[in-house]
Amino acid sequence: MSIEFRQVSLSYSSGETKVKALKDLSWTVETGGFAAVMGRTGSGKSTVLRLLCALAKPDGGQILIDGKDIHSSLPRRELRKEMGFVFQFPEYQLFETTVLKEVCFGMKNLGFSKEEMEENSRWAIEKMGFNFEAIRSVAPMALSGGQRRRVAIASVIASRPKILLLDEPTSGLDPAERRSFCQILTSLNREGTTIVMVSHNSEVVCETAKTLLVLKDGEKWKEGKVEDLFSSDLLPAGILPPPSLLLSSFLREKGMDLPRAVRQEDFISALLYQVGRRKNG
Ligand SMILES: Nc1ncnc2c1ncn2[C@@H]1O[C@H](COP(=O)(O)OP(=O)(O)O)[C@@H](O)[C@H]1O
Ligand SMILES: [Mg+2]
Repeated sequence: MSIEFRQVSLSYSSGETKVKALKDLSWTVETGGFAAVMGRTGSGKSTVLRLLCALAKPDGGQILIDGKDIHSSLPRRELRKEMGFVFQFPEYQLFETTVLKEVCFGMKNLGFSKEEMEENSRWAIEKMGFNFEAIRSVAPMALSGGQRRRVAIASVIASRPKILLLDEPTSGLDPAERRSFCQILTSLNREGTTIVMVSHNSEVVCETAKTLLVLKDGEKWKEGKVEDLFSSDLLPAGILPPPSLLLSSFLREKGMDLPRAVRQEDFISALLYQVGRRKNG
């Protein structure tokens, strides 16, 4: 499903004053796209997600999903069925007594049949890297933080949303958890889910996303392909390139013939190829 923001603005009232959280944002994500949203704290990233799933209504402009205005032409129920929202630290919202009940909760509310719930819960739990039989009856509270996060995400993807919104999904995870999480997101996207992910982590963005929206003080500062934007200086928006990209530009300056690959795996294969050539040549 495609997403389009047309000159969207939103102000929050805070006492007497109004905070302009988002100003005139025009932005699109294609069907099957994977868009990252980056920017400093307070730049309006979470506001974009809240607007997309209609938790907030814009003061101006339009938000369209597959060409339909989410406030005038798309019934709320349909929107809820098509869109999954993983809030920041979703593991704090777990409350059921078993993993399976937790994962089925959202589907129950959306009116899924028993058969659909059985099939989807198994798929989602296994997708998030668990053994279904071993984990289904475990209490979420007995799991580690990273495992609880995966259960929380399983409960969102179980209803098979066509659009998945994630707010800082990797914050607080260790590097190994982050890496396997990137693989899961990439695989969901390959299977056709359109993804919008807010993240502070350049490495995670470079490993997973195809396009990037950079916000600065509530406005679009830059938009484009991940590899193009990371070739430019993003520091004014508080964004540093991932270590592999820093190392690759350093080595290029030293004369090594390396592509501007943003994914670590691509950088490492190019580097190994060059090292091999130098050794053999
Ligand atoms: N509920 C709210 N009431 C008042 N101001 C808010 C509210 N939510 C966000 N803001 C303000 O709107 C701006 C953008 O916030 P947010 O979208 O949460 O930024 P980010 O996710 O990039 O950190 C900030 O200045 C923030 O303080
Ligand atoms: Mg935020």
